[in-house]
Amino acid sequence: MAILCIEDDEIADRWRDALRRENAELDVRSWPEIGRAEDIDMVLLWDEFGCLGDLPNLKAAVILGAGVDHLFAPTVAIPEHLKIIRLIDPSITGQMIEYVTLCVVTWTRDWDDYRQFQRERRYEELPARVPADVTIGVLGLGRLGGAVAQTLAGIGYRVGGWSSSPRDLEGIECFSGEDGLTRLFQQSDIIVCLLPLTAETEGILNADLFNSAKEGAYLINAARGGHLVEEDLIIAVDSGRLSGATLDVQREEPMAPEHPFWDHPKIKITPHIATITSPEYAAPDVAENYRRLKVGEPLLNVIDVERQY
Ligand code: GLV
Repeated sequence: MAILCIEDDEIADRWRDALRRENAELDVRSWPEIGRAEDIDMVLLWDEFGCLGDLPNLKAAVILGAGVDHLFAPTVAIPEHLKIIRLIDPSITGQMIEYVTLCVVTWTRDWDDYRQFQRERRYEELPARVPADVTIGVLGLGRLGGAVAQTLAGIGYRVGGWSSSPRDLEGIECFSGEDGLTRLFQQSDIIVCLLPLTAETEGILNADLFNSAKEGAYLINAARGGHLVEEDLIIAVDSGRLSGATLDVQREEPMAPEHPFWDHPKIKITPHIATITSPEYAAPDVAENYRRLKVGEPLLNVIDVERQY
């Protein structure tokens, strides 16, 4: 039995070393030197789905990231018996909490304005906001969204959250359904999107919702570019309905040189770096799942193919 890693050589070496630190007996191979295809029962990959059909004893595929929407493209055929696992380790959760908190605090503390004042040698105070005066709406209350929402609530912000099916999360005012989404937008100073991208959530951040948002609300999207109707955002920001946005993800990545986000003064972009999967931190979860696979115990973080996440 062996694990096959389909990644660039340097990353594949890191996976092999990190997995062997968890269990020195593991047979970890790197594409394309796979040895006997019959030996492979688990594969680690991001989007090289073409190989899945060529490994006769393959039982599980670990997608090396938290979002798995690319798996559901019409061109991808997933063998039915295959368990698909996604990665959310404590490092990924911590990075996402850090990224969103940075964006939130930059806005609540008027950080950009103070930097501009400094350039102008203006020693001037803006009206203060305290955390309890700021309401944040987190879309998606799964492993990442839930952790982000609870951390923000721990700082003292008023936090509401939305999920497609009803949830109950301590310290968070939970909303669901279409009506719940509008209500969350109406009350939030900052909206954070951490939803999975599915047929249902594609384009969910659009003019209809922006029009129901609180005047001057701020948008943070660290989920997928497909959630956002980009033209609608530009109109909402230019009209002052939204005060701006930070977007770690865009519809086309990398963004084309002529994309209007590049020079928009109120839209900040980062190149999909909110979380980076690191073999060293993710290996314990992968090794644990491999142990479970071998002894027939239920696997962790398995995707529901029907729900698409
Ligand atoms: C990054 O976007 C991921 O899905 O892990």
